[in-house]
Amino acid sequence: MSDIDASKLVIEPTTKPSEPRPNEDLVFGKYFSDHMLEIEWTEAEGWGVPKISGYHPLLLDPSTVVFHYAFELFEGMKAYRDKDNNIRTFRSDKNMARMNNSAARASMPTFDGEELMKCIDKLVLLDKKFVPFGAGYSLYLRPTMIGTTPTLGVHEPDRALLYVICSPVGPYYKTGFKPVSLEATDYAVRAWPGGVGGYKLGANYVSCIQPQTVAASKGHQQNLWLFGEEGYVTEVGAMNAMFVFKDENNKKELVTAPLDGTILPGVTRDSVLQLARARLPADEWTISERKFTIHEVAEKASKGQLVEAFGCGTAAIVSPINNIGFQDKQIPVPCGANGVIGDLTQTVADWIRKIQYGEEEFADWSRV
Ligand code: COI
Repeated sequence: MSDIDASKLVIEPTTKPSEPRPNEDLVFGKYFSDHMLEIEWTEAEGWGVPKISGYHPLLLDPSTVVFHYAFELFEGMKAYRDKDNNIRTFRSDKNMARMNNSAARASMPTFDGEELMKCIDKLVLLDKKFVPFGAGYSLYLRPTMIGTTPTLGVHEPDRALLYVICSPVGPYYKTGFKPVSLEATDYAVRAWPGGVGGYKLGANYVSCIQPQTVAASKGHQQNLWLFGEEGYVTEVGAMNAMFVFKDENNKKELVTAPLDGTILPGVTRDSVLQLARARLPADEWTISERKFTIHEVAEKASKGQLVEAFGCGTAAIVSPINNIGFQDKQIPVPCGANGVIGDLTQTVADWIRKIQYGEEEFADWSRV
């Protein structure tokens, strides 16, 4: 059975090259580069020859399992242009490992992540002109895997397609950081013990859109996903959630929910935690992965011990929070002296940006 083999990659350049859009046009996920990567898998033969060709529609039988039983998983990662015009991806090994975990859970084939990354490197270099210039701009890479067996039978697919498309993107918030108001959502649940919330499956996203619409009708931009009668804080929108508390002695705690299977193991989440542990003074800070509830957040806020809060993910990097609506109360969340972004939120955003754009190296996080 063959694994992905980057040395067999076939490149058929497009006959209809296009010009990249100016930065000011870039809306998240709206425009795509000239090429895509595709690798087919069959149970009989394993992974086929990787192929890069012009961006094109897929032709699939209407019975294909992806349309019926949600055999779909994806990754989100970005390629950045550094000051020397090199292209860098950020911690792509983490995305490859997570994609393999998702594939195994979704009964789809796993693969050699380094070989896929070598193919993705070739795709990104072929479409290098679509990697935008400028801080906050990048080429968003969307590796995707779908089950392609044409059948209504409910069983593991014997065919799959792995493909990668690339979308030039700008800052998630065009007007700079805009803090968001959250509805603490307890009537709908994003994930549950033994479920698939810890995997990047498309099915985890569809169920979150209707509650997001409900939150919007109440004037909130996102959901703060709670779990259980205790009201555990899990995630925010499609991002991991980070809160900063302080105690009576002004010692601060950066806290986020633990990876207990209900939380997506975010690459940005892990980066924030690693950088905070390495760089924040240990006598002033505790960095915690622990369970905490909306009631603890409300209590800290009432005592003036809620310092700041933010969502973090690949798309937005950080997303400051300025309010949480919980039942019929509003919990105001401090958002720095300017009311836009808290001190730690700004600090971690700067740390991560500098590593992503190659202004600084940290461990082996950049792949040039
Ligand atoms: C991210 O923050 O990178 C996400 O996962 C959101 C993405 C689905 C657009």
